[in-house]
Amino acid sequence: MVSTHPTGVQSKGSIYLLSNQKENISPNQSLLPISAKVNDRDTLEIGGCDVSTLVKQFGSPLYILDEESLRTACRQYRDSFKQYYKGESQVLYASKAWNCLAVCAIVASEDLGIDVASGGELYTAIKSGANAEKIYLHSNNKSREELIFAAESGCTIVVDNWHELNTLVELGNENGSSSIPYRIMLRLTPGIDCHTHDYIRTGQLDSKFGFDPNALDDVFAFVSKNQSFLNCVGLHAHIGSQIFERQPHQDLAAVMVEWLKKAATYGIDILELNVGGGLGIRYIESDDPPSIEEWVKPICEVVEKTCQNANLPLPKLLCEPGRSLIGTTCVTAYSIGASKEIPGIRKYIAVDGGMSDNPRPITYQSIYRAVVANKMSAPLTETVTIAGKHCESGDILIKDAQLPLTKPGDILVVMGTGAYNYSMSSNYNRLPRPAAVLVANGEASLILQRESYQDLIRQDCLPERLTKNEQ
Ligand code: LLP
Repeated sequence: MVSTHPTGVQSKGSIYLLSNQKENISPNQSLLPISAKVNDRDTLEIGGCDVSTLVKQFGSPLYILDEESLRTACRQYRDSFKQYYKGESQVLYASKAWNCLAVCAIVASEDLGIDVASGGELYTAIKSGANAEKIYLHSNNKSREELIFAAESGCTIVVDNWHELNTLVELGNENGSSSIPYRIMLRLTPGIDCHTHDYIRTGQLDSKFGFDPNALDDVFAFVSKNQSFLNCVGLHAHIGSQIFERQPHQDLAAVMVEWLKKAATYGIDILELNVGGGLGIRYIESDDPPSIEEWVKPICEVVEKTCQNANLPLPKLLCEPGRSLIGTTCVTAYSIGASKEIPGIRKYIAVDGGMSDNPRPITYQSIYRAVVANKMSAPLTETVTIAGKHCESGDILIKDAQLPLTKPGDILVVMGTGAYNYSMSSNYNRLPRPAAVLVANGEASLILQRESYQDLIRQDCLPERLTKNEQ
């Protein structure tokens, strides 16, 4: 059976890619990066680079990151806030989606701030040259060292719980450093539900994150009493990830303005509201996320209207998307190797990576789509299951993928792998992590070196007595 290609490639000569079909499409609505094309060798090209050539040059598996898609998504967020919000705004990139020097440097160059979730992410963001004043540190269990690192770097701490509030006051009492009062925001859990996978839902009341809104009076009273140590500039909430509905964020924005009003009654002047991230992306044809603009606009409207009704000045409005900025900007190219056909049951095709470079299918049962980069317009005649190379039966990247007939050495490209793939990658089975290249205008620049076997044992220690072959 010949079926329509998931990217929209239908047959030779009549190629369309979802990416450049619609006017004003947001990168998060496209399966492929927006610069994707099929060249006259019938091969997929991203950022003007032939994917087969990239694999020859850099090896596989290979993360291929399209600079144009990432910059376009950054600009769409930034410009939509400028267009629809009368107050100040700041878009932050939730770098947990993919934190490395080059990605932090690109988003910072687009005037985005950066949300970091650990000392390690903070360190990387700072080393990339990003401005610390636009960095916000999260986590529900920041260590004292992380708190000190953040404060001394000049970034804002998004306080998650009582333990952190108390630790900051203790630290303030102890060291009298110039970073006092600490610039903080308070993270609250709004009790707003949205339809997404249970593990990636964070805004419901039963969550490990943030203060319970019922504790608001106590929290504001504490902050107000300790203003010499705590400079509370804002309120934060994040309700979940891979969300297609727009209503939950509008409800959130309205609830947050109510919190802001309450803070004022405690003499706390809230200047910033951060509505978190969460906008979804297209992983499969039937996914239909709103565009970036469609997501931003109603949030701005709700904040403006609610503030106007309450006679409040407009706060600086922040959001912190991760997936919708980077998810569809990247594909992973693998080389096809072994295959196994179980007659009447299933055909497996194995690739040279798997759950170590993309743990999302095994963790969240996430569904991906793939194309064969060197046979872009070949008819899709096979239904196959794409297996990784790990010693684990669940190491399946895609069940029932529609592909053309393949042979070993063909290049399989899995789409939409920019978010939470590299950042959640592992060395399971001691597979070295893949390289990553940034592509733009026909040039590919290495942004992550492929790990080597030496890298794998870099932190191993062999106690001397084990080297003596003692019985
Ligand atoms: N802000 C906070 C406080 C967050 O916890 C997150 C994501 C974001 C922003 C960014 O959300 P996004 O725009 O990317 O949806 N590993 C899971 C996703 C976990 C999301 C964690 N928090 C996955 O692979 O689907």
